[in-house]
Amino acid sequence: MRLFYETLLSHRSIRKYKHKPVPDEVLQKILTAGTRASSSGNMQPYSIIVTTDEKIKEELLPAHFNQSMVTEAPVLLTFCADFHRMRLWLELSDAPENFDNFMSFMIGSIDATLASQNVALAAEAEGLGICYLGTTLASNKEISRILKLPKHVVPVVGFSLGYPDEVPKLRDRLSLEAIIHRETYKDYSVDDIKKIYKEKEREGMKRYKANPELKKMIDKSKVTNLAQVYTKLKYTKDSHIKYSEDVFSCLKEQGFLN
Ligand SMILES: Cc1cc2nc3c(=O)[nH]c(=O)nc-3n(C[C@H](O)[C@H](O)[C@H](O)COP(=O)(O)O)c2cc1C
Repeated sequence: MRLFYETLLSHRSIRKYKHKPVPDEVLQKILTAGTRASSSGNMQPYSIIVTTDEKIKEELLPAHFNQSMVTEAPVLLTFCADFHRMRLWLELSDAPENFDNFMSFMIGSIDATLASQNVALAAEAEGLGICYLGTTLASNKEISRILKLPKHVVPVVGFSLGYPDEVPKLRDRLSLEAIIHRETYKDYSVDDIKKIYKEKEREGMKRYKANPELKKMIDKSKVTNLAQVYTKLKYTKDSHIKYSEDVFSCLKEQGFLN
């Protein structure tokens, strides 16, 4: 098993996987590590759906915008905010059920995300690779339907899991000084911002232009820098308004907006 810091510092998202199943005992081990994460009130208001069935993965594929990892990785993990289980227990115990509001969704989401990152790190320590899927949140209504989630359960984060069939270059990260504020928040000057994003701009544009499909899109849309790629192509105002509406609609349907 790899050393803890070596595991943390060598993280890269894996999008290509070997056709090799993840043994049950390994899965059990990393899921156990996941559930050791801190938890609000130690309620553990989350569930982890383990999908290995090819038919269900195929069904999930469009909801994940046809990202190949969904069907190519042997395992797909979906971490859900889940107050359903707790509420059943409360009901049986003649206790007020509560937990049907936005605050509860946030608490469940935080717990689910902490557990997911614990599982991710444990997986990487075991020589497995993962790639988070933002589509888990964006398509949470459709994913809830396919995974047969009851009320008060909502998918929040998820990732593909399997043995890596690639060793991608480590991606850049912002410098520590860009991210850390000592004692109180120190706002950024124009020069700070230019310095902070200089390397990302260079590396990011190089990376996108190396992908023929993205290069075509960038050239066609007359986007001239990485910041514009982010908000004119990748994360547009319209798409984010639509995803926000979808997420709120899912929360309402799943009983988290009372
Ligand atoms: C919440 C979340 C959602 C993500 N969604 C996707 C995704 O849908 N598809 C994908 O290929 N990568 C996805 N990623 C992976 C990021 O693109 C990746 O972590 C980032 O580019 C940094 O690269 P690295 O993980 O290799 O260091 C996601 C990461 C996070 C944390």
